Amino acid sequence: MTALPASGIPALAANTRVPATLPSPAPDSAFQGAETVREAPVADWVTLADLREDPFPIYRRLRAEAPVHWVPAVNRYMVVSYDACHTVEQDADTFSANEEGSLMKRAMGHSMLRKDDPEHRADRDSYGSTLRPGTIKNHWMEIFERNHRRYLDQLKAKGPGADFVWDYAAPYAAENLRLICGFHNATQEDLQRWSQTMIDGTGNYADDPEVWAKAAASSAEVDAAIDEMLVYLKDRPDPSLLSGLASMPIPLEAIRANLKMTIGGGLNEPRDVLATTAWALLSCPEQLEAVRSEPKLWAAAFEESVRWVAPIGMYPRQTTRETVLGGVRLPAGAKLGVVLGSANRDPKVWEDPESFNVLRAKKPHLAFGGGQHFCAGAWVGRASVAQVALPGAFAELRNLRLEPAGSAIAAGWVFRGMTSMPVAWD
Ligand code: HEM
Repeated sequence: MTALPASGIPALAANTRVPATLPSPAPDSAFQGAETVREAPVADWVTLADLREDPFPIYRRLRAEAPVHWVPAVNRYMVVSYDACHTVEQDADTFSANEEGSLMKRAMGHSMLRKDDPEHRADRDSYGSTLRPGTIKNHWMEIFERNHRRYLDQLKAKGPGADFVWDYAAPYAAENLRLICGFHNATQEDLQRWSQTMIDGTGNYADDPEVWAKAAASSAEVDAAIDEMLVYLKDRPDPSLLSGLASMPIPLEAIRANLKMTIGGGLNEPRDVLATTAWALLSCPEQLEAVRSEPKLWAAAFEESVRWVAPIGMYPRQTTRETVLGGVRLPAGAKLGVVLGSANRDPKVWEDPESFNVLRAKKPHLAFGGGQHFCAGAWVGRASVAQVALPGAFAELRNLRLEPAGSAIAAGWVFRGMTSMPVAWD
């Protein structure tokens, strides 16, 4: 295999032209003092606009100063070191997912993602085997292949200049999720609209009434679609989530909330990891060459991509009692942002963490979360993206390239991915 340079490509930066290789930024300074208990430092220099554009320089500075900060712009304690994020994930008694005043609960209802065990476990178990490896292998893989063909053909029909995100990755991820959920009465476009409007609701800290109105309209549409499908699928069972739920002793309210959360959490992430990985490989021809010459590396490229740019960059938790995390004192009821996007670039865990490097030594990243709430769709994400879409798209689009070069844009920090990625091929 071709030898690769030690450093891969640099951090994604929104609206910036990115050459194929660049030296990575200077490593973080040594982590300071977790032994003594201190009050949380106040990071009043962090702004939402900077986080949205490119959060990684901010994370570097935060990590170098302390594992946990109070960040006024976010109105939360941001947990930024790998160890502190991991501790939160493993201790649900102290760090509850059932956050008070959660906007997600308002937009989508009270799903498993905002419950702690044992309530959470009952909801999680209700998803049965739909998202598990056996069902993926025996049922969903064929469907992923079919959907890949369909949307790659649409991208090709559009011709060079088509957008890899919006003409391929998004409809592919949405159609897969539509069938996994069992919405035979909706389109992939409905899934994209429902997902985006309800996600906008979960982030509506400005309390914009228009955002709430759109989220509520989607929520009502999803309720109606679920009601119809639960009846339909009872007589015509299939491996979908709704089909399994049709015969489960679980309250309708929970089914609705869990499906809405899954629509919000199962579409953007595969879309984003697909486009981010393609962007990273197209920006670094040596790494693309390595993957092309060793197909097993598609899986490594996927894992490295979600480490490097975690599609879910931050999720909330709340302390149930006063505690100390990473040497920082937290009061009871403190609202936390667990910043996976930062934990995954902690230099205490990874060498040269800002670089995308498909050959780096394998270590457990946190992109799928951990503990009780470890992503239920991780196998679906891996199979649909690393086994089908990435190898398929690179095999079929000869000389796939970013065109115009440097015009691709990445954005976001709570969710991060490519927002525009025009491509061409021969
Ligand atoms: C491929 C990229 C994906 C990434 C990076 C990802 C990431 C995550 C993360 C970080 C969490 C935990 C959040 C928290 O603890 O607050 C989570 C939970 C979850 N994800 Fe994913 N996800 C992906 C794909 C999917 C897909 C394709 C589905 C569905 C088909 C899905 C369904 C879920 C569900 C149902 C949960 C809630 C689990 C629970 O509360 O027990 N995810 N995901």
